Amino acid sequence: MPDILTDVTSEYLASMEPPADDLVAEMETHAAEDGIPIASRSVATLQAILARGTDADRALEFGTAIGYSTLHVARTGTDVVTTEVDGERIDAAVDYLERDGIDVTVTDDPTTIDAEPTGDGTVFIVEGPALETVPRLDGPFDLVFLDAIKSEYEEYLAESLSLLTAGGMVVADNLLRGGRVAAAAADTETEDIEAEYGSSVAALREFNEVFVDHDALEAVITPQGDGTGVAVKTSDAP
Ligand SMILES: C[S@@+](CC[C@H](N)C(=O)[O-])C[C@H]1O[C@@H](n2cnc3c(N)ncnc32)[C@H](O)[C@@H]1O
Repeated sequence: MPDILTDVTSEYLASMEPPADDLVAEMETHAAEDGIPIASRSVATLQAILARGTDADRALEFGTAIGYSTLHVARTGTDVVTTEVDGERIDAAVDYLERDGIDVTVTDDPTTIDAEPTGDGTVFIVEGPALETVPRLDGPFDLVFLDAIKSEYEEYLAESLSLLTAGGMVVADNLLRGGRVAAAAADTETEDIEAEYGSSVAALREFNEVFVDHDALEAVITPQGDGTGVAVKTSDAP
């Protein structure tokens, strides 16, 4: 599999990551041992930096898993509404977040979530498919994190942009898929890319074009983590 960065650069960047406290280290070990995909520590920290830097009141996350990036953002005092389909992962997320003193509500009815920010980093986990959840949520949000099904990113962006404030940030994980998204560049036909690299790589290539060319966004794709998109919403238009 192609890599995004050389081994030397990857190792150097890993050595420069912020240190993990005990809870963060426990979650990273849990994810690694059980094969649960979570953001890299640097991408979770990037979200926390953006939440703090923009004084974000509310964040919307696609894909909770065990609450790793949720924890990083909630610790800044930003409320997080996050969606997940896996009940076991939700239980683990609740346990980790509550151990950190974070107030957590789990619901399968997104219409029950109050859009008024709590100001103390409360987390609302909505159990169910993101594309059923998000159209039923009340905005506004100041930060959106795309991290559930890769082939649905374009729909996640479309659904969340109307809920995002002008000046609000979008972070999208896994945009380079371990280097495969760039490696697929030579295969111009979508069917060829799907056959050789998988449907998520083909979908991410299309998403990346939409993301960087979007009229309502100023966006870049960086080689951080597994390829991280960062954008700011530049207009009120969705
Ligand atoms: C990459 S993980 C999320 C990691 C998490 N954002 C973090 O960095 O700590 C993606 C998660 O999306 C969940 N998922 C899959 N399909 C989903 C859907 N339709 N709606 C919401 N979540 C979904 C998976 O169960 C998985 O736990």
